[in-house]
Amino acid sequence: MKLYSNPASPFARKARIIVRELNLTSVVEEVNVDARDLAEEMRKLNPLGKIPVLVLKDGSTIIDSPVICEYLNDVGGGKFFPGMSIWRDVSGRWRALTLQALGDGICDAAVARIYESRRPAEQQSPAQMEKYRKAITTALEVLEHANFAPHITIGEIAVACALGYLDFRLPQLSWRENHPKLRDWYEKFAQYPSMKDTWPAALS
Ligand code: BEZ
Repeated sequence: MKLYSNPASPFARKARIIVRELNLTSVVEEVNVDARDLAEEMRKLNPLGKIPVLVLKDGSTIIDSPVICEYLNDVGGGKFFPGMSIWRDVSGRWRALTLQALGDGICDAAVARIYESRRPAEQQSPAQMEKYRKAITTALEVLEHANFAPHITIGEIAVACALGYLDFRLPQLSWRENHPKLRDWYEKFAQYPSMKDTWPAALS
């Protein structure tokens, strides 16, 4: 299998963490797509022009990080996607997927904010910038009060990738200052070898 990704992408990072955690490195080859021609390159594999993309042995493709992560979890016999449960407890499938959506949503808003800030000053929209800022800060507030599962799910992985991305691209947000519980949780999570190995600055 080939996993098309970029070291800076927090979405691809989720999949790269699962590859390491489930010892799939010998069956998943990571192909680094240059960020500059990302959309053009990737449109050949993914009509949406986005990474990550997983190309299977038979040439078929799987797109979108939640789908790729669940596929890799299945292949590797992982437990990052809890099964269905009638109990709404912390180990539930819907909790994990909702947490993943929150982590991915922070990344969506952060990426959009970065693109907006790179436009010429006179073309930037203060209203859009504020919308992205609000999405990030409100989501962080919710995460500060979240109960993270004792065993790691895709939700925890997505949140850790989002926080890592804020450190990498938006350090000026200083998210740790107002989120001490989240900070302490993340400091422990960031020690996993799979997190250290996929830290964007470690590869770029
Ligand atoms: C980035 O460079 O920040 C980035 C690259 C790919 C996907 C998302 C973000």
